[in-house]
Amino acid sequence: MATRLDEIADGIYRISTLVPDIGPKGFSFNQFLIDAEQPLLFHTGHRSMLPAVADEISRVTPLAGLRWITFGHIESDECGSMNQLLAAAPRAQVAHGALGCMVSLNEMADRPPKPLADGETLDLGGKRVTHFDTPHVPHGWEARVLFEETTRTLLCGDLFSHLGDGPPVTTDDVVGPAEEAEDLFRATCLTPTTGATMRRLAELDPRNLAIMHGSSFTGDGASALVRLADAYDARLLAAVPD
Ligand SMILES: [Fe+2]
Ligand SMILES: [Fe+2]
Repeated sequence: MATRLDEIADGIYRISTLVPDIGPKGFSFNQFLIDAEQPLLFHTGHRSMLPAVADEISRVTPLAGLRWITFGHIESDECGSMNQLLAAAPRAQVAHGALGCMVSLNEMADRPPKPLADGETLDLGGKRVTHFDTPHVPHGWEARVLFEETTRTLLCGDLFSHLGDGPPVTTDDVVGPAEEAEDLFRATCLTPTTGATMRRLAELDPRNLAIMHGSSFTGDGASALVRLADAYDARLLAAVPD
């Protein structure tokens, strides 16, 4: 498995590892590093991937200088090496929605996490990220996303997950590939609020979608989110008995 590093927006780096034997085309695991006065990592990756991820972080900024460790929800690909990174970066702190801190992270993180309110912004010095709660979207009670204002980049985690070894950034459709992956994995919670939550994120009008599994997207992120919402509403309707 090779790990690569690409700048997908100004000062936002994607660290990507393709695992070739997941699904018919392979599946990538991506971490995003925001290079700012207070560097922020979104997703730590699996614990087993930490040596490769740490090497790539160090090509951009000293690992020991990481300030914020963040992720979309609590699973091993999102936060498996959280505590190893807290040990490697003495000033680093986990920041997550208040609910996730209360339910899990106050106990699981080796140092106390910073709880964030819905809509709360962290000024990173040169970059600004706002936290949004998205409970159960795509999955996990504590699910959340981050929006980086200066580049209009939505760090959208498992939303738009798709298979294959695509380019670091695409302008092609990402909704069709996400539907193909959903057919295979059934990873997203189908609830009456799934589509509405995605439409709320579309109001941010993102220019870039930092997607955890697959290529990042540049273009009309709002339109992509609305079409994804429509696709999930259709799945929900199809699943409900007449
Ligand atoms: Fe996940
Ligand atoms: Fe994931």
